[in-house]
Amino acid sequence: MSQAIVEVRNLKKSYKKRKTKEYITAVDDISFTVNRGEIIGLLGPNGAGKTTTIKMICGLVVPDSGTITINGIDNQKKRLQAREHISAVLEGNRNLYWRLTVRENLEYFAGNRGMSRKVVAPKINELLKQFQLKDKENELVNRLSRGMQQKLAIAVAMLAGSEVILLDEPTLGIDVETGYEVRELLRSIVTEQKKTIIITSHDMDVIQDLCERTVIINDGTVITNDRVENLLKLFDVRAYSVKLGGHLSEEQHELLLQKFPDLVYIPDTFQSTLEVELIQSEAIYDLFDVLKLEQIPVDTIDRKTINFEQVFMKIVKGGEKYALSERA
Ligand SMILES: Nc1ncnc2c1ncn2[C@@H]1O[C@H](COP(=O)(O)OP(=O)(O)OP(=O)(O)O)[C@@H](O)[C@H]1O
Ligand SMILES: [Mg+2]
Repeated sequence: MSQAIVEVRNLKKSYKKRKTKEYITAVDDISFTVNRGEIIGLLGPNGAGKTTTIKMICGLVVPDSGTITINGIDNQKKRLQAREHISAVLEGNRNLYWRLTVRENLEYFAGNRGMSRKVVAPKINELLKQFQLKDKENELVNRLSRGMQQKLAIAVAMLAGSEVILLDEPTLGIDVETGYEVRELLRSIVTEQKKTIIITSHDMDVIQDLCERTVIINDGTVITNDRVENLLKLFDVRAYSVKLGGHLSEEQHELLLQKFPDLVYIPDTFQSTLEVELIQSEAIYDLFDVLKLEQIPVDTIDRKTINFEQVFMKIVKGGEKYALSERA
């Protein structure tokens, strides 16, 4: 069995603007592969083309060109067959019936997949417990909080037992606590059930926490495809904040700027601050050599660590392409 379960090749999609009839390119050229049991983050700024890509993968939007295979099945030639391997939780919980109760929603979607009531009942009970929705099982969906609806939408996706789960913004608009709960649920799904998950999110903590690899898109094309840990390493410039018990002389400031053009110096009455990013950690000695010239006391040195949010910002703002080799 091949490793790859989702293969997306050279996808393109334009939408016609309603008024002007001009075309707007939502997805320009997107290719990536997802391996079995992998959880990948599909990231990018607003309007980058993430939702359009997710919708094309689950067969809700037809690409203008390009191919998508799910488990080796072409999702345009054999749409229904490919669809059997996928469950999707889209933005705005559109995969729920608002006038049905929590339990009825689960029963309805199970029935849709041709599962018998007998087989499905224990699974539903298990999911209600796992997702902490048991005391809401007879509540109508439109009376649930957004976070509960989101959990139910994920439970519905789980019930189908598909190998591939697509999640578009699963923590959008829910409170911090429910966000953590959803994150834990997703983590348990990944570790215990070995599902393949493609997740989009603007919450980089969620991505750093859950994903092994990210595909970052901007303006409808892939700009980065690499493991989260590789990207963190790649951008791990050593940023230091040095507190000084005095002021730099003009000569010292000049010398430092020559060596560290991005250096930020914030003089203050009692304590001045130097902010500096070092590409090589040995460069810290150059900094100290200059400070030693006037014997300025160093009060504290703090090493700042980079998080995935900052990495993401640098990649998107930098506009360059990083590690496009799919070295997963
Ligand atoms: N049905 C549609 N009709 C016209 N234009 C659309 C349609 N859907 C998306 N677009 C446009 O396509 C582009 C990509 O949209 P898409 O929703 O895929 O972005 P996204 O990456 O999901 O953004 P966000 O982070 O805001 O959710 C945007 O410019 C958007 O306005
Ligand atoms: Mg979107």
